[in-house]
Amino acid sequence: MLEELTNLNTCEWKKMDNLITKPTKLSLNILSEYISKGDIAIDATAGNGHDTLALAKLAGSTGKVYAFDIQKAAIDNTKVLLEKEGFLDRCELILDSHQRMDQLLPERLRGSVSAVVFNLGYLPGGEKDKTTQRAATLPAVEQALSLIRPGGIVAATMYGGHPAGAEEKTALLRFAKELPQTEYHAAYLSFINQKNRPPELLLITRK
Ligand SMILES: C[S@@+](CC[C@H](N)C(=O)[O-])C[C@H]1O[C@@H](n2cnc3c(N)ncnc32)[C@H](O)[C@@H]1O
Repeated sequence: MLEELTNLNTCEWKKMDNLITKPTKLSLNILSEYISKGDIAIDATAGNGHDTLALAKLAGSTGKVYAFDIQKAAIDNTKVLLEKEGFLDRCELILDSHQRMDQLLPERLRGSVSAVVFNLGYLPGGEKDKTTQRAATLPAVEQALSLIRPGGIVAATMYGGHPAGAEEKTALLRFAKELPQTEYHAAYLSFINQKNRPPELLLITRK
């Protein structure tokens, strides 16, 4: 598995031997343990498509990745990247809010998704006011939990360094702390020796 991922030549992300690197890479490294060939995964915030591409590689040609974004520019960028890398065939790009994932995804997916990824914040190089917001993120994470299979994961990279991000992070942590431990494991990871408030990870797995 590790060898296969490190041999992928054009992906921004490569599985690292050093698991703890940047938060976004750590998130993908962890996710790679939860997604196998033929699996279904969801990118709740497609952005420029890097996470969608990584998920598509992990899910393989028999798997499927659904990716959401509210910005057409993000969906377009993701499409271009997936097309260039040859992974568009196994992806469905949805120009809509992740808050509606429950309504928009086929009913049969409920309880069968291996991983849902949220890389919160705003589109790199895009408009900062189009950032993710607590009001949509929280219900979306709740829906993601109803979509994952036993043993599946929801991973959120949270950016607490700007006001909307701080509010979102506080709400997500409050929500995750209250999840019943008989059904979920919830973990919160922070890179504590870095400058400029790096993003933090919230990981929730279903037992
Ligand atoms: C940090 S970027 C994601 C980066 C991306 N995962 C990548 O690999 O390039 C956050 C994205 O979330 C999107 N977003 C904001 N609110 C959203 C919502 N309610 N539903 C889906 N996407 C949303 C933004 O448009 C932005 O593209």
